[in-house]
Amino acid sequence: MGPAEVKALQGDALARIDAAGDLAALDALRIEWIGRRGGRITALMKAIPSVAPEERSAFGQAVNALKAAVQDRLDARKAALEQSEAKLPGVDVTMPGRRLELGRLHPITRATREMVDIFGRLGFEVVEGPEVEDEWHNFVGLNIPAEHPARDPLDNYYLKDHVLLRTQTSTVQIRVMEKRKPPVRVIAPGRVYRPDTVDAGHSNMFHQLEGLWVEEGVTFADLKSVLAMFARAFYGPSVRTRFQPGYFPFTEPSAEMYLSCLLCGGSGCAACKRTGWIEILGCGMVDPNVFEAVGYDPEKVTGFAFGMGIDRQAMLKYGIHDIRWLFENDLRLLRQL
Ligand code: DAH
Repeated sequence: MGPAEVKALQGDALARIDAAGDLAALDALRIEWIGRRGGRITALMKAIPSVAPEERSAFGQAVNALKAAVQDRLDARKAALEQSEAKLPGVDVTMPGRRLELGRLHPITRATREMVDIFGRLGFEVVEGPEVEDEWHNFVGLNIPAEHPARDPLDNYYLKDHVLLRTQTSTVQIRVMEKRKPPVRVIAPGRVYRPDTVDAGHSNMFHQLEGLWVEEGVTFADLKSVLAMFARAFYGPSVRTRFQPGYFPFTEPSAEMYLSCLLCGGSGCAACKRTGWIEILGCGMVDPNVFEAVGYDPEKVTGFAFGMGIDRQAMLKYGIHDIRWLFENDLRLLRQL
């Protein structure tokens, strides 16, 4: 056998190695070609010394080259087969991955966070209170006596005698003042519950944000400036505010704050019932009876409080026309924002 035949053998060997379908078939080829006993290339190597001296060098080089090429190809094919046999059956690792959808904040969460941020800059700390309340914190401490219409069992979710789901976050005013000495400057966001008939503007569960600032020398001017600053920060610098006298048992004097209508700018439209103004919150100077209920001295400290519906603010700000949409878990609502 001359160098040319050895070369031809190489083509055959490499083609069969490439075609080996699994590791067992490949091992059989290894034995056939370079097996220590009886391998075809091994036999050629053993034959080198018996080749005629003038041909020996060329023959030897050809056989060595053949062996190296076969060994290389066996190694490469082995690595490839090992990798594909290690794969889990039925898994195509070249398939594109599953896309993770990025979530969004619910409008109420967004509005709440923005309010917390704005009042935070004005020095208000966030506090929380329980949703299951007693009559002391929901009514009595807030100067709402037993005969007051707000205490009608039909207007409240009573869980058992004297225990109900809170109807307002004003409960947290009492809880905070019972625990702390003045000065107090807090906001309390949270859920409240009322057995109202559900419609576009009413839900029997909704959210309020309560505010309370008590300290020596706090005045109605502080109340107006804090709430006007809030309105401009939350709704934009061009919004105007108006205060109108109102009544709440726990504040004296009491007021309602109105915004110039966000839709028509004040000229009058359907959204503001042609008045140009939209009411957004109740507020007032903390009633001395409330201070006495929590052990504060009304001769020493004064304070103001306010409460607003977070859901209503979110609806106004984001243009949501029906409060029920906020609680239906329809993802289309979230995707719009
Ligand atoms: N708690 C009142 C309500 O649910 C809102 C409110 C009005 C809160 C005046 C206040 C306030 O703190 O001073 O209608």
